[in-house]
Amino acid sequence: LGERDAQYVISHIRTIPGFPKEGILFRDFMPVLADAKALKLLVDALEQTLPVPLDSFDAIAGLEARGFLFGPILATRLGKGFLAVRKAGKLPPETISESYDLEYGTAAVEVETDLVKPGMRVLIVDDLIATGGTAKAAADLIRRAGGSVVGFSFIMKLDGLNGLEQLGDVPSSTLVTMP
Ligand code: PRP
Ligand code: ADE
Repeated sequence: LGERDAQYVISHIRTIPGFPKEGILFRDFMPVLADAKALKLLVDALEQTLPVPLDSFDAIAGLEARGFLFGPILATRLGKGFLAVRKAGKLPPETISESYDLEYGTAAVEVETDLVKPGMRVLIVDDLIATGGTAKAAADLIRRAGGSVVGFSFIMKLDGLNGLEQLGDVPSSTLVTMP
């Protein structure tokens, strides 16, 4: 995106101090989704900044809940399928589960194992990487299910939390770094 368009999208990310806990600066991208122009520019930017070539992955996996809001849109644009990585307890068996810590608690994610085909190459998407706990758990989950994780695509990275260091050698892209 050009500078003007990038600024247009960024101006639709809002910050809520003290949510869900004191000391957290909560970064909310719902206003980007709510604005037709910002939403289109966001998906354009994600498409243009893929961390790996289009033909190097078979599917996009999105993380509940915010990865669900744009992952399938991006998948449609790119001609890929979408795998839902859900919070624990929401999917019928057969699932596998992986637990992790995040900036404000602990959680577990699950995937329906049969949807991850043997050797399937997966790009993981989410709105934001903070500690990297969620993205790492999702990657471990996909690998345990028989897939391979070829890249990560985030809208925002929180500065100072070293989240990307949790992700090993796998290439990643982030559109904007937030202090
Ligand atoms: C947020 C965000 C990422 C995760 C990042 O989700 O959407 O998934 O935290 O944090 P981490 O890098 O420290 O793991 P959250 O768990 O708040 O759930 P939600 O999307 O359902 O609101
Ligand atoms: N997930 C983890 N940390 C977050 C933050 N500061 N804002 C929004 N989502 C988050």
